[in-house]
Amino acid sequence: MPKHLLALQEFTKEELLDFVYRAITLKNEKAEGIIHQHLVGKTVALIFEKPSTRTRVSFESAMYGLGGQVIFLSNRDTQLARSEPLKDMARVMDRYVDGMVVRTFGQNVVDELSQYSSVPVINALTDLHHPCQVLSDVMTVIEKKGDLDNLHVAWVGDGNNMANSWIQAAAKLGFSLTLACPEGYDPDPEIFSSCSEVASKPITLVRDPKEAVKGADVINVDVWASMGQEEEQDERLEIFKEYQVNADLMKLAPADAIVMHCLPAHREEEITEEVLESEQSVVWDQAENKMHIHAAILEIMLTKE
Ligand code: CP
Ligand code: NVA
Repeated sequence: MPKHLLALQEFTKEELLDFVYRAITLKNEKAEGIIHQHLVGKTVALIFEKPSTRTRVSFESAMYGLGGQVIFLSNRDTQLARSEPLKDMARVMDRYVDGMVVRTFGQNVVDELSQYSSVPVINALTDLHHPCQVLSDVMTVIEKKGDLDNLHVAWVGDGNNMANSWIQAAAKLGFSLTLACPEGYDPDPEIFSSCSEVASKPITLVRDPKEAVKGADVINVDVWASMGQEEEQDERLEIFKEYQVNADLMKLAPADAIVMHCLPAHREEEITEEVLESEQSVVWDQAENKMHIHAAILEIMLTKE
């Protein structure tokens, strides 16, 4: 198992499923009142250069739930904003904490921290990937749909960090994935080509969202302008308007298709209130599962030899 969790690509299928099934066990045990204290005496730093509700609180809750402690550092709290080199930050932090959970802009930031850190670095979202979110989403899909065999996942909208991590998950875990993205907003081309070439099930990029949702078991949607792209918001509203997940689009999907959104959602933009609040939407269970997958990730990454 890799020392750091930077992208799903770096893990085997078995390792990815270990996270997911451990999270399902922890969730079930928690419901039965079984509490584990596997991380007593351990501390993680949450270093967040972008805002977060779910990822921050669910990592903190997971860490405390396992008996550990967290130190939260926003970009106002460290010398990173004043250009302290990442290699210095890594070699200081690893003397204080047992792991670093990092949300930032460039993937190069987590890559460089991991090169110099003797403790695990966990990617809590970069511009390129959101691996912990997609692991959590895979857990939700398994809970709702049973397993990943014969599963067809659709992605509708921007080829962003979430899309890139879904592509890596599809290639590693062996389910089919159709992405519908407007021209110019494709997923990372290197990730798309390397994953689609080796995948056992098709990973396809189309332009028409109707084509993507036909026959889909899972329909994934995310914001049209990600964090850091706020100034493109108005332009993107126009470009993405045909990519809204609404009742008309849902009519083209199987009646038992589930709708997923990692949240935060912008109602009446990428998804309508009607669909977000419908029976097919699993977004609240999806949000809950972040806490269980983060518990599994912390437990596995911080206790392995
Ligand atoms: N889904 C997700 O990562 O949400 P936050 O930005 O609130 O952490
Ligand atoms: N693609 C979104 C995900 C938010 C959890 C973003 O990066 O802002």
